[in-house]
Amino acid sequence: MAPVLEAINIQKRFGAIVALSDGQLSIGEGEIHALLGANGCGKSTLCKIIAGTVAPSGGRLRIGGRDAVLSSPRDAEALGVALFYQELSLVPQLSVADNIYLGHEPKGAGGFGDSKALLAQTRALIARFAPVAGPGFTPEALVGRLTPDQRQIVEILKVLARRPRLIIFDEATAALDRRQVELFFGVLRELKAQGVSTIFISHRMDEVFAVCDRITVMRNGSTVASFATAQTDRDTVIRAMVESVALLERRVHARPAGERPRLVAQGLSGKRLQHVSFSVAPGEILGLGGLQGQGQSALLQGLFGAAPFSTGQVTLDGASVSLRSTAQAIRAGFGYVSGDRGRDAAFGGRSIFENIAAASLVREGRKLVWPRQLKPRFEAAAAALNTKYDGMEAPIGSLSGGNQQKIFIARWLETRPKVLLLDDPAKGIDLAAKADFFALVRQLAEQGTAILFYASEDAELLALSDRILVFNGGQIAGELTGERLTALHLTDAAYGALA
Ligand SMILES: Nc1ncnc2c1ncn2[C@@H]1O[C@H](COP(=O)(O)OP(=O)(O)OP(=O)(O)O)[C@@H](O)[C@H]1O
Ligand SMILES: [Mg+2]
Repeated sequence: MAPVLEAINIQKRFGAIVALSDGQLSIGEGEIHALLGANGCGKSTLCKIIAGTVAPSGGRLRIGGRDAVLSSPRDAEALGVALFYQELSLVPQLSVADNIYLGHEPKGAGGFGDSKALLAQTRALIARFAPVAGPGFTPEALVGRLTPDQRQIVEILKVLARRPRLIIFDEATAALDRRQVELFFGVLRELKAQGVSTIFISHRMDEVFAVCDRITVMRNGSTVASFATAQTDRDTVIRAMVESVALLERRVHARPAGERPRLVAQGLSGKRLQHVSFSVAPGEILGLGGLQGQGQSALLQGLFGAAPFSTGQVTLDGASVSLRSTAQAIRAGFGYVSGDRGRDAAFGGRSIFENIAAASLVREGRKLVWPRQLKPRFEAAAAALNTKYDGMEAPIGSLSGGNQQKIFIARWLETRPKVLLLDDPAKGIDLAAKADFFALVRQLAEQGTAILFYASEDAELLALSDRILVFNGGQIAGELTGERLTALHLTDAAYGALA
């Protein structure tokens, strides 16, 4: 039988960014198909193309054995493809039945809404999910009165009412707890029993092995492997996710030995962190790894006093420090650079000089002024950056993103912080600027600054770190040192069994 869906050599560019260079996917009838791969490898983009919400730059789609050209989500819907949206699109004041058929009401004689048919059809839909729907889940129930689990089921029924052949779930389980995930798997298996195919995007390896029939792995915009789940294992899949040349490559990292730790963190907890403890030596570059959003940024922002911890202790060179505000953190000796320039560029409209000087002046407890004698100090820092600019008075906005980023690190070159916090600092800057930037980071480390470095790209992390803590669900899930500082070990640890 022809596959329900075939995506052949799909390409997508967003301006200069190549999101997809060779997306391939083949989905059989009634199949639960996992799409796996690192952050940014192109999974969502491929699925949006299949659902008609993004237009491809090249390649071919075949749906139900025929070539398909989709110019809108409606086109995809007409061919039986539905993308499941996480953002709740329900109207709380309406009933379950009205929500499910909103905009697609069954029509009776004369073209008027047929409320009897509406209720009967909803009842039939609900009956199929009786084991997971729970009490009070009736066609007449107001959606606003349902539990969050039940509302999620209404969302699914809403998709099902259009009778799709293929439903795409893009990280539908990311926000669910264990029990809700079980419930969701019940739904997936029910869909399978009815011959509906599903694409399931998840970063949770245990889930993928628990529920999927096939697994397709993407890397860097291309499909690189496809497996029958029963005929593969976690190790093989992890290896496919990692660039083969980078698999065993490693830099020789020398960890400064025998020194008193510069920073000791004990039991740090907060909104996105649980009991995080570690220490960093002066001159050490400590990498923070793992999938995006596992607590790495939360830790860095917490240490910078921008999002204070609820519990825990931080000592700096043996003395306990309080980090309730950014000013406190800077005075204690912390520096911070974020790749999210909007957040970091507190002096967006101001000159390059003011942007470099700001941190030093806070640390020295001085107001931001324009004293002529200060300028040479910062000129030296700016010169180290290999950055072209029209003088120190030029507004920082006149620089390219990568060069702005270098100015932000120059702030801290001059300040010589005890600890520098790097929150995905090279995000979106070009290769040349990145190389300059990383050279500056190394220079700071050589001068004794302890560096905490989060990067969303594993290659950056592996290139710069002396040691890596791997985060998962707000906790440190593993530590890589020496021989184990490889892409393979990093991916393996990041995809470790999630609680
Ligand atoms: N609208 C857009 N404009 C510019 N670039 C985009 C756009 N959408 C996606 N990208 C880029 O395309 C690449 C692939 O993104 P995509 O969202 O498909 O990744 P993903 O595999 O779903 O990642 P994740 O696991 O983090 O969800 C990324 O580099 C992303 O930044
Ligand atoms: Mg995605």
